[in-house]
Amino acid sequence: MTTARRVILDQYRTGTEAAAKLVALDEITLPDPGPGEVLIRTTHVQLAAVLADLMRENPNLPMAGYKPGEPLWAGAVGEVIAAGEGGLAVGTAVAHRKGLQSHVIAGPWEAFPVDPALPEPYFALNQGVTAYHGMVDVAEVSEGDVVFVSGAAGGVGSLAGQIAKARGAKKVIGSAGSAAKLVYLTEELGYDAALDYRDGDLVAALKTVAPDGIDVFFDTVGGTQFEAAVQVAAEGARFALCGALAGQLDDSVGAHPRLDIMTAINAEIVLKPFRTMHTPEQLEAWSSHYSHWLADGSVVYPHTLVPGGLDVAAATLDALLAGTHRGTVLVELA
Ligand SMILES: NC(=O)c1ccc[n+]([C@@H]2O[C@H](COP(=O)([O-])OP(=O)(O)OC[C@H]3O[C@@H](n4cnc5c(N)ncnc54)[C@H](OP(=O)(O)O)[C@@H]3O)[C@@H](O)[C@H]2O)c1
Repeated sequence: MTTARRVILDQYRTGTEAAAKLVALDEITLPDPGPGEVLIRTTHVQLAAVLADLMRENPNLPMAGYKPGEPLWAGAVGEVIAAGEGGLAVGTAVAHRKGLQSHVIAGPWEAFPVDPALPEPYFALNQGVTAYHGMVDVAEVSEGDVVFVSGAAGGVGSLAGQIAKARGAKKVIGSAGSAAKLVYLTEELGYDAALDYRDGDLVAALKTVAPDGIDVFFDTVGGTQFEAAVQVAAEGARFALCGALAGQLDDSVGAHPRLDIMTAINAEIVLKPFRTMHTPEQLEAWSSHYSHWLADGSVVYPHTLVPGGLDVAAATLDALLAGTHRGTVLVELA
């Protein structure tokens, strides 16, 4: 029998409360794994802004939210430390979705071996499936495109821009909320230009770096950044609408930008909101490229490692929402 520490939801998020005030830590005793099951010691948990959304009683998302008293699910990796008959071998590095728990029991379809070609097992925790699906299948990025990614230093955006470059985009522009992140985008992630959306006139800034307009907009933020992108859209621009962080966490106005319809008509903008359902085809499309792109340097793994374990997880989520971190944010448990 094993004792597992867990971060559970204590109360629903109703506004903009700190996540640290809404969760609690508890302990439970896990039984030994049964046939086909494994006991996993979690080493890294993946945080993202959507976790704050999932704390609401009725999140406007294509998946169920958290329930009070239950652990916060999220992407995680760990090591198999015990196995029932027919389970994965002890020592296997695995990924699971049971999230903020020090140890979990997982059945045959709940934990999957991590690609051994990855430099570290935690490289498996990323938003690449969404970034790839949105940029390649939805936006249909192609050689010569001028691409604008909002939230470009976030978990999805930091891969979306790199994928656009790997697919031959002519110019990739990203937005983020600090000078340090702009340097990160251009110096480490290969963005051609980076803009701070807090720096005044975003339309003018976009016109300067994209004088012929943008062909693709990959939007994770919505709000005024969406409105600006419409103003600089090239003929037939494709808008892959991924998220609305400017308002989705509390349904504020940022989630409901105004569409300048006449400008959209004149440019024949194609608006393409999408949900990534992690179908086998979408998973395969990303995983078949990811380790190769890492190996040949086309893509770097954008991430922030935060030590401190489950005790700091909720505070780390609050820091993420405040824009402190970049790339995929991982809390280290071991
Ligand atoms: N459609 C799909 O299938 C799908 C799948 C996965 C995720 N998503 C969505 O994609 C979006 C991005 O997800 P992610 O995991 O990349 O996010 P994330 O890594 O948690 O991004 C957080 C970053 O977003 C930026 N941001 C800008 N405005 C913000 C605001 N008002 N509140 C909080 N953060 C803000 C902040 O950086 P800066 O201020 O520096 O920009 C922050 O660091 C979310 O809306 C998520 O729900 C959609």
